[in-house]
Amino acid sequence: MSVGDRPALSLADFERTAQPRLDPVAYHYYAGGADDERLLRENEAAWGRAALHPRVLRGVDAPSLDCTVLGCPLPMPVLVAPMAYQRMIHPDGEVAMAAGTSAVGGGLVLSSMSTTDMEEVAAASSGPVFFQLYVYDDPAIVRELVARVEAAGCQALVLTVDLPVVGNRHRDEVHQFTLREGMSIQCLTAEGPMPMPDEGESGLVTFFRRHLKRDLDWDDVAWLRSITRLPIVLKGVLRADDAARAVDAGASAICVSNHGGRQLDAAPATFDVLPAVVDAVAGRAEVWVDGGIRRGTDIVKAIAAGATCTLIGRPFAWALASDGADGVASAWAILRRELAIDLALCGCAGIDAISRDLLFPPQP
Ligand code: FNR
Ligand code: LAC
Repeated sequence: MSVGDRPALSLADFERTAQPRLDPVAYHYYAGGADDERLLRENEAAWGRAALHPRVLRGVDAPSLDCTVLGCPLPMPVLVAPMAYQRMIHPDGEVAMAAGTSAVGGGLVLSSMSTTDMEEVAAASSGPVFFQLYVYDDPAIVRELVARVEAAGCQALVLTVDLPVVGNRHRDEVHQFTLREGMSIQCLTAEGPMPMPDEGESGLVTFFRRHLKRDLDWDDVAWLRSITRLPIVLKGVLRADDAARAVDAGASAICVSNHGGRQLDAAPATFDVLPAVVDAVAGRAEVWVDGGIRRGTDIVKAIAAGATCTLIGRPFAWALASDGADGVASAWAILRRELAIDLALCGCAGIDAISRDLLFPPQP
Protein backbone atom coordinates (compact mmCIF):
# COMPACT_ATOMS: atom_id res chain seq x y z
CA MET A 1 0.00 0.00 0.00
CA SER A 2 1.62 3.25 -1.01
CA VAL A 3 0.85 6.91 -0.46
CA GLY A 4 2.35 8.69 -3.47
CA ASP A 5 5.81 7.16 -3.66
CA ARG A 6 6.13 5.88 -0.11
CA PRO A 7 4.44 3.07 1.84
CA ALA A 8 1.62 3.87 4.28
CA LEU A 9 3.21 4.71 7.63
CA SER A 10 0.23 5.34 9.88
CA LEU A 11 -3.48 4.58 9.87
CA ALA A 12 -4.18 8.18 8.87
CA ASP A 13 -2.57 7.52 5.48
CA PHE A 14 -5.33 5.14 4.40
CA GLU A 15 -8.11 7.72 4.24
CA ARG A 16 -6.01 9.71 1.78
CA THR A 17 -5.58 6.71 -0.49
CA ALA A 18 -9.18 5.52 -0.14
CA GLN A 19 -11.13 8.69 -0.83
CA PRO A 20 -10.23 9.10 -4.53
CA ARG A 21 -11.25 5.47 -5.17
CA LEU A 22 -14.73 5.79 -3.67
CA ASP A 23 -17.96 7.21 -5.00
CA PRO A 24 -19.25 10.07 -2.85
CA VAL A 25 -22.21 8.08 -1.45
CA ALA A 26 -19.91 5.42 -0.02
CA TYR A 27 -17.15 7.78 1.07
CA HIS A 28 -19.45 10.11 2.97
CA TYR A 29 -21.44 7.26 4.54
CA TYR A 30 -18.21 5.86 6.00
CA ALA A 31 -16.57 9.17 6.88
CA GLY A 32 -19.56 10.95 8.33
CA GLY A 33 -21.00 11.55 11.77
CA ALA A 34 -24.15 13.10 13.19
CA ASP A 35 -25.21 16.78 13.30
CA ASP A 36 -22.10 18.99 13.32
CA GLU A 37 -19.71 16.03 13.67
CA ARG A 38 -18.43 17.47 16.92
CA LEU A 39 -18.10 14.02 18.47
CA LEU A 40 -16.35 12.61 15.43
CA ARG A 41 -13.54 15.09 16.11
CA GLU A 42 -13.83 14.87 19.88
CA ASN A 43 -13.37 11.08 20.03
CA GLU A 44 -9.93 11.41 18.49
CA ALA A 45 -9.05 14.57 20.42
CA ALA A 46 -9.84 12.94 23.78
CA TRP A 47 -7.17 10.24 23.32
CA GLY A 48 -4.73 13.00 22.42
CA ARG A 49 -5.40 14.91 25.64
CA ALA A 50 -3.99 12.17 27.89
CA ALA A 51 -0.30 11.47 28.08
CA LEU A 52 1.57 8.29 28.95
CA HIS A 53 3.94 8.35 31.91
CA PRO A 54 6.67 5.90 30.88
CA ARG A 55 8.66 3.63 33.17
CA VAL A 56 12.41 3.24 32.55
CA LEU A 57 14.99 0.49 33.05
CA ARG A 58 12.52 -2.39 32.89
CA GLY A 59 14.70 -4.56 30.65
CA VAL A 60 11.98 -4.88 28.03
CA ASP A 61 13.37 -6.19 24.78
CA ALA A 62 10.59 -7.60 22.59
CA PRO A 63 7.22 -7.04 24.29
CA SER A 64 4.44 -9.54 23.72
CA LEU A 65 1.22 -8.12 22.29
CA ASP A 66 -0.78 -11.32 22.87
CA CYS A 67 -3.96 -11.17 24.88
CA THR A 68 -7.29 -12.92 25.40
CA VAL A 69 -10.76 -11.54 24.76
CA LEU A 70 -13.79 -13.51 25.96
CA GLY A 71 -11.50 -16.52 26.18
CA CYS A 72 -10.30 -16.14 22.57
CA PRO A 73 -6.59 -15.59 21.98
CA LEU A 74 -5.80 -12.44 20.00
CA PRO A 75 -2.48 -11.20 18.59
CA MET A 76 -3.13 -7.75 20.08
CA PRO A 77 -5.99 -6.07 21.99
CA VAL A 78 -7.73 -4.81 18.85
CA LEU A 79 -10.77 -5.98 16.92
CA VAL A 80 -12.08 -4.62 13.63
CA ALA A 81 -15.26 -2.74 14.60
CA PRO A 82 -18.52 -3.82 12.97
CA MET A 83 -19.12 -1.70 9.89
CA ALA A 84 -22.05 -2.12 7.56
CA TYR A 85 -22.03 -2.70 3.80
CA GLN A 86 -18.32 -3.30 3.16
CA ARG A 87 -18.91 -4.33 -0.46
CA MET A 88 -19.79 -0.67 -1.06
CA ILE A 89 -16.13 0.22 -0.56
CA HIS A 90 -14.42 -2.84 -2.06
CA PRO A 91 -15.76 -5.60 -4.32
CA ASP A 92 -14.53 -8.30 -1.93
CA GLY A 93 -15.96 -6.45 1.08
CA GLU A 94 -16.18 -8.40 4.31
CA VAL A 95 -14.27 -11.40 2.92
CA ALA A 96 -11.26 -9.20 2.16
CA MET A 97 -11.55 -7.61 5.62
CA ALA A 98 -11.51 -11.11 7.13
CA ALA A 99 -8.62 -12.29 4.94
CA GLY A 100 -6.47 -9.23 5.75
CA THR A 101 -7.25 -9.64 9.44
CA SER A 102 -6.39 -13.33 9.27
CA ALA A 103 -2.90 -12.41 8.08
CA VAL A 104 -2.14 -11.67 11.75
CA GLY A 105 -4.72 -14.08 13.20
CA GLY A 106 -6.71 -11.04 14.32
CA GLY A 107 -10.35 -10.83 15.31
CA LEU A 108 -13.28 -8.92 13.93
CA VAL A 109 -16.85 -8.02 14.72
CA LEU A 110 -19.11 -8.66 11.74
CA SER A 111 -22.01 -6.25 11.24
CA SER A 112 -25.63 -7.41 11.00
CA MET A 113 -25.63 -5.22 7.91
CA SER A 114 -22.85 -7.22 6.29
CA THR A 115 -23.10 -7.50 2.52
CA THR A 116 -21.54 -10.97 2.76
CA ASP A 117 -23.07 -13.97 4.50
CA MET A 118 -21.63 -14.61 7.94
CA GLU A 119 -20.83 -18.22 6.99
CA GLU A 120 -18.52 -17.01 4.22
CA VAL A 121 -16.80 -14.50 6.51
CA ALA A 122 -16.32 -17.12 9.23
CA ALA A 123 -14.79 -19.47 6.65
CA ALA A 124 -12.34 -16.75 5.54
CA SER A 125 -11.23 -16.01 9.13
CA SER A 126 -8.42 -17.65 11.06
CA GLY A 127 -9.11 -15.58 14.18
CA PRO A 128 -12.29 -15.08 16.22
CA VAL A 129 -15.42 -13.66 14.60
CA PHE A 130 -17.96 -11.95 16.84
CA PHE A 131 -21.37 -11.13 15.38
CA GLN A 132 -22.94 -7.68 15.88
CA LEU A 133 -26.69 -7.88 16.21
CA TYR A 134 -29.41 -5.41 15.33
CA VAL A 135 -32.75 -6.60 16.62
CA TYR A 136 -35.48 -6.89 14.01
CA ASP A 137 -39.13 -6.28 14.82
CA ASP A 138 -39.87 -9.86 13.89
CA PRO A 139 -38.48 -12.14 16.63
CA ALA A 140 -38.46 -15.08 14.20
CA ILE A 141 -35.81 -13.25 12.14
CA VAL A 142 -33.70 -12.68 15.24
CA ARG A 143 -33.98 -16.33 16.31
CA GLU A 144 -32.97 -17.45 12.84
CA LEU A 145 -30.01 -15.04 12.76
CA VAL A 146 -28.82 -16.16 16.19
CA ALA A 147 -29.08 -19.82 15.19
CA ARG A 148 -26.98 -19.07 12.11
CA VAL A 149 -24.43 -17.15 14.18
CA GLU A 150 -24.02 -20.14 16.49
CA ALA A 151 -23.84 -22.65 13.64
CA ALA A 152 -21.28 -20.51 11.78
CA GLY A 153 -18.96 -20.73 14.79
CA CYS A 154 -19.01 -17.05 15.79
CA GLN A 155 -17.82 -16.66 19.36
CA ALA A 156 -20.06 -13.90 20.75
CA LEU A 157 -23.10 -11.76 20.04
CA VAL A 158 -22.46 -8.04 20.16
CA LEU A 159 -25.80 -6.34 20.70
CA THR A 160 -25.71 -2.70 19.61
CA VAL A 161 -27.85 -0.61 21.94
CA ASP A 162 -27.20 2.95 20.81
CA LEU A 163 -29.32 2.98 17.68
CA PRO A 164 -33.04 3.19 18.62
CA VAL A 165 -33.19 5.51 15.61
CA VAL A 166 -30.50 6.42 13.10
CA GLY A 167 -28.56 9.57 14.05
CA ASN A 168 -29.05 12.82 12.16
CA ARG A 169 -26.53 12.35 9.36
CA HIS A 170 -26.59 15.16 6.86
CA ARG A 171 -24.07 13.61 4.51
CA ASP A 172 -26.37 10.63 3.89
CA GLU A 173 -29.32 12.91 3.17
CA VAL A 174 -27.31 15.01 0.76
CA HIS A 175 -26.16 11.88 -1.09
CA GLN A 176 -29.47 10.00 -0.64
CA PHE A 177 -27.65 7.02 0.75
CA THR A 178 -28.71 3.66 -0.64
CA LEU A 179 -27.11 0.34 -1.48
CA ARG A 180 -25.99 -0.20 -5.04
CA GLU A 181 -27.89 -2.62 -7.27
CA GLY A 182 -27.20 -6.26 -6.54
CA MET A 183 -26.21 -5.76 -2.92
CA SER A 184 -28.24 -7.04 -0.05
CA ILE A 185 -27.73 -7.88 3.56
CA GLN A 186 -27.78 -11.24 5.18
CA CYS A 187 -31.02 -10.90 7.05
CA LEU A 188 -33.45 -13.73 6.33
CA THR A 189 -37.06 -13.07 5.44
CA ALA A 190 -39.63 -15.12 3.61
CA GLU A 191 -38.65 -13.30 0.40
CA GLY A 192 -34.93 -13.88 0.89
CA PRO A 193 -32.30 -11.25 1.64
CA MET A 194 -33.81 -7.83 2.28
CA PRO A 195 -33.12 -5.19 -0.33
CA MET A 196 -32.40 -1.64 0.77
CA PRO A 197 -35.34 0.61 -0.06
CA ASP A 198 -34.64 3.80 -1.93
CA GLU A 199 -37.20 6.49 -1.27
CA GLY A 200 -35.36 9.74 -1.63
CA GLU A 201 -34.20 10.12 1.97
CA SER A 202 -31.26 8.18 3.38
CA GLY A 203 -32.11 4.54 2.65
CA LEU A 204 -30.60 3.63 5.99
CA VAL A 205 -33.24 5.63 7.85
CA THR A 206 -36.04 4.00 5.86
CA PHE A 207 -34.64 0.53 6.39
CA PHE A 208 -34.22 0.89 10.15
CA ARG A 209 -37.63 2.49 10.58
CA ARG A 210 -39.32 -0.34 8.70
CA HIS A 211 -37.55 -3.37 10.02
CA LEU A 212 -35.71 -2.79 13.29
CA LYS A 213 -37.19 -2.89 16.77
CA ARG A 214 -37.22 0.71 17.96
CA ASP A 215 -38.43 0.17 21.51
CA LEU A 216 -35.60 -2.13 22.52
CA ASP A 217 -35.26 -2.37 26.31
CA TRP A 218 -33.71 -4.45 29.08
CA ASP A 219 -36.38 -7.16 28.60
CA ASP A 220 -35.01 -7.71 25.11
CA VAL A 221 -31.56 -8.25 26.57
CA ALA A 222 -33.01 -10.85 28.95
CA TRP A 223 -34.83 -12.50 26.03
CA LEU A 224 -31.65 -12.61 23.97
CA ARG A 225 -29.79 -14.05 26.95
CA SER A 226 -32.44 -16.82 27.09
CA ILE A 227 -32.17 -17.81 23.41
CA THR A 228 -28.40 -18.17 23.04
CA ARG A 229 -25.53 -19.89 24.76
CA LEU A 230 -23.05 -17.38 23.33
CA PRO A 231 -21.53 -14.60 25.44
CA ILE A 232 -23.36 -11.29 24.95
CA VAL A 233 -21.59 -7.94 24.61
CA LEU A 234 -23.58 -4.70 24.91
CA LYS A 235 -22.13 -2.14 22.49
CA GLY A 236 -22.89 1.53 22.85
CA VAL A 237 -22.88 1.95 26.62
CA LEU A 238 -21.53 5.28 27.94
CA ARG A 239 -22.81 5.44 31.52
CA ALA A 240 -21.61 3.69 34.67
CA ASP A 241 -25.19 2.87 35.78
CA ASP A 242 -26.05 1.30 32.41
CA ALA A 243 -22.81 -0.68 32.49
CA ALA A 244 -23.58 -2.07 35.94
CA ARG A 245 -27.09 -2.97 34.80
CA ALA A 246 -25.71 -4.66 31.69
CA VAL A 247 -23.54 -6.91 33.86
CA ASP A 248 -26.56 -7.72 36.03
CA ALA A 249 -28.44 -8.61 32.82
CA GLY A 250 -25.79 -11.19 31.98
CA ALA A 251 -23.47 -9.30 29.62
CA SER A 252 -19.98 -10.78 29.44
CA ALA A 253 -18.57 -7.54 28.08
CA ILE A 254 -19.55 -3.90 27.65
CA CYS A 255 -18.33 -1.92 24.66
CA VAL A 256 -17.99 1.74 25.56
CA SER A 257 -18.94 3.36 22.28
CA ASN A 258 -20.77 6.33 20.82
CA HIS A 259 -20.97 4.64 17.42
CA GLY A 260 -18.01 6.61 16.13
CA GLY A 261 -19.89 9.90 16.55
CA ARG A 262 -22.70 8.77 14.23
CA GLN A 263 -25.55 8.85 16.76
CA LEU A 264 -25.90 11.48 19.55
CA ASP A 265 -23.48 14.22 18.58
CA ALA A 266 -23.59 15.70 22.09
CA ALA A 267 -22.49 12.47 23.78
CA PRO A 268 -19.12 12.41 25.54
CA ALA A 269 -15.94 11.09 23.95
CA THR A 270 -15.42 7.45 24.85
CA PHE A 271 -12.04 7.93 26.53
CA ASP A 272 -13.59 10.49 28.89
CA VAL A 273 -16.19 8.02 30.23
CA LEU A 274 -14.12 4.82 30.10
CA PRO A 275 -12.65 4.95 33.65
CA ALA A 276 -16.07 5.40 35.28
CA VAL A 277 -17.49 2.44 33.34
CA VAL A 278 -14.47 0.30 34.24
CA ASP A 279 -14.98 1.15 37.91
CA ALA A 280 -18.71 0.37 37.79
CA VAL A 281 -18.12 -2.98 36.10
CA ALA A 282 -15.46 -3.76 38.74
CA GLY A 283 -14.00 -6.76 36.94
CA ARG A 284 -17.35 -8.58 36.60
CA ALA A 285 -17.19 -8.32 32.80
CA GLU A 286 -14.76 -7.19 30.14
CA VAL A 287 -14.82 -3.57 29.02
CA TRP A 288 -14.14 -2.84 25.36
CA VAL A 289 -13.90 0.63 23.87
CA ASP A 290 -14.00 2.25 20.45
CA GLY A 291 -14.13 5.67 18.82
CA GLY A 292 -11.18 7.59 17.39
CA ILE A 293 -8.51 5.03 18.26
CA ARG A 294 -5.81 5.60 15.66
CA ARG A 295 -2.40 4.92 17.25
CA GLY A 296 -0.63 2.32 19.34
CA THR A 297 -0.47 4.91 22.10
CA ASP A 298 -4.29 5.20 22.07
CA ILE A 299 -4.48 1.43 22.60
CA VAL A 300 -2.05 1.67 25.55
CA LYS A 301 -4.17 4.47 27.05
CA ALA A 302 -7.35 2.40 26.67
CA ILE A 303 -5.81 -0.64 28.37
CA ALA A 304 -4.29 1.59 31.07
CA ALA A 305 -7.76 2.98 31.80
CA GLY A 306 -8.97 -0.60 32.31
CA ALA A 307 -10.20 -1.78 28.91
CA THR A 308 -9.60 -5.37 27.85
CA CYS A 309 -9.75 -4.60 24.18
CA THR A 310 -10.20 -1.80 21.65
CA LEU A 311 -12.18 -1.69 18.42
CA ILE A 312 -11.08 0.31 15.40
CA GLY A 313 -13.49 1.19 12.63
CA ARG A 314 -12.90 3.68 9.83
CA PRO A 315 -9.11 3.19 9.42
CA PHE A 316 -9.67 -0.49 8.57
CA ALA A 317 -12.41 0.52 6.14
CA TRP A 318 -10.06 2.97 4.40
CA ALA A 319 -7.37 0.27 4.26
CA LEU A 320 -9.90 -2.13 2.71
CA ALA A 321 -11.02 0.46 0.17
CA SER A 322 -7.40 1.27 -0.70
CA ASP A 323 -6.09 -2.21 -1.34
CA GLY A 324 -8.49 -4.97 -0.27
CA ALA A 325 -7.09 -7.72 1.95
CA ASP A 326 -3.51 -6.47 1.46
CA GLY A 327 -4.50 -3.01 2.65
CA VAL A 328 -6.15 -4.45 5.75
CA ALA A 329 -3.09 -6.62 6.45
CA SER A 330 -0.85 -3.60 6.14
CA ALA A 331 -3.03 -1.61 8.59
CA TRP A 332 -2.65 -4.45 11.09
CA ALA A 333 1.13 -4.51 10.53
CA ILE A 334 1.36 -0.75 11.17
CA LEU A 335 -0.62 -1.08 14.39
CA ARG A 336 1.44 -4.03 15.62
CA ARG A 337 4.66 -2.17 14.99
CA GLU A 338 3.41 0.93 16.80
CA LEU A 339 2.11 -0.99 19.79
CA ALA A 340 5.37 -2.95 20.15
CA ILE A 341 7.39 0.28 20.12
CA ASP A 342 5.00 1.94 22.59
CA LEU A 343 5.09 -0.98 25.05
CA ALA A 344 8.89 -1.00 24.95
CA LEU A 345 8.99 2.77 25.50
CA CYS A 346 6.60 2.46 28.45
CA GLY A 347 8.66 -0.33 30.01
CA CYS A 348 5.90 -2.94 29.61
CA ALA A 349 6.86 -6.53 28.72
CA GLY A 350 3.30 -7.35 27.72
CA ILE A 351 -0.31 -6.20 27.71
CA ASP A 352 -0.74 -7.38 31.32
CA ALA A 353 1.97 -4.94 32.43
CA ILE A 354 -0.10 -1.93 31.33
CA SER A 355 -1.65 -0.34 34.41
CA ARG A 356 -3.55 2.83 35.25
CA ASP A 357 -0.51 4.62 36.63
CA LEU A 358 0.77 4.90 33.05
CA LEU A 359 -1.84 7.60 32.43
CA PHE A 360 -0.76 11.19 32.96
CA PRO A 361 -2.15 13.24 34.59
CA PRO A 362 -2.82 10.43 37.11
CA GLN A 363 -6.35 9.04 37.19
CA PRO A 364 -8.04 8.32 40.51
C1 FNR B 1 -20.31 1.78 11.95
N1 FNR B 1 -20.60 1.31 13.22
C2 FNR B 1 -21.46 0.25 13.35
N2 FNR B 1 -21.71 -0.27 14.58
C3 FNR B 1 -22.52 -1.33 14.72
O1 FNR B 1 -22.71 -1.78 15.85
N3 FNR B 1 -23.10 -1.90 13.64
C4 FNR B 1 -22.90 -1.45 12.37
O2 FNR B 1 -23.43 -1.99 11.42
C5 FNR B 1 -22.08 -0.31 12.22
N4 FNR B 1 -21.89 0.22 11.00
C6 FNR B 1 -20.99 1.24 10.83
C7 FNR B 1 -20.72 1.70 9.56
C8 FNR B 1 -19.76 2.68 9.36
C9 FNR B 1 -19.49 3.17 7.99
C10 FNR B 1 -19.05 3.21 10.47
C11 FNR B 1 -17.98 4.26 10.29
C12 FNR B 1 -19.35 2.78 11.74
C13 FNR B 1 -19.88 1.85 14.40
C14 FNR B 1 -18.55 1.12 14.59
O3 FNR B 1 -18.75 -0.21 14.96
C15 FNR B 1 -17.68 1.78 15.68
O4 FNR B 1 -18.43 1.94 16.85
C16 FNR B 1 -17.07 3.11 15.27
O5 FNR B 1 -16.84 3.18 13.88
C17 FNR B 1 -15.75 3.29 16.00
O6 FNR B 1 -15.21 4.51 15.73
P1 FNR B 1 -13.99 4.76 14.69
O7 FNR B 1 -12.85 3.81 14.98
O8 FNR B 1 -14.56 4.60 13.31
O9 FNR B 1 -13.65 6.17 15.02
C1 LAC C 1 -24.33 2.89 10.85
C2 LAC C 1 -25.16 1.72 11.23
C3 LAC C 1 -25.58 0.80 10.19
O1 LAC C 1 -23.69 3.45 11.74
O2 LAC C 1 -24.65 1.09 12.35
O3 LAC C 1 -24.40 3.33 9.68
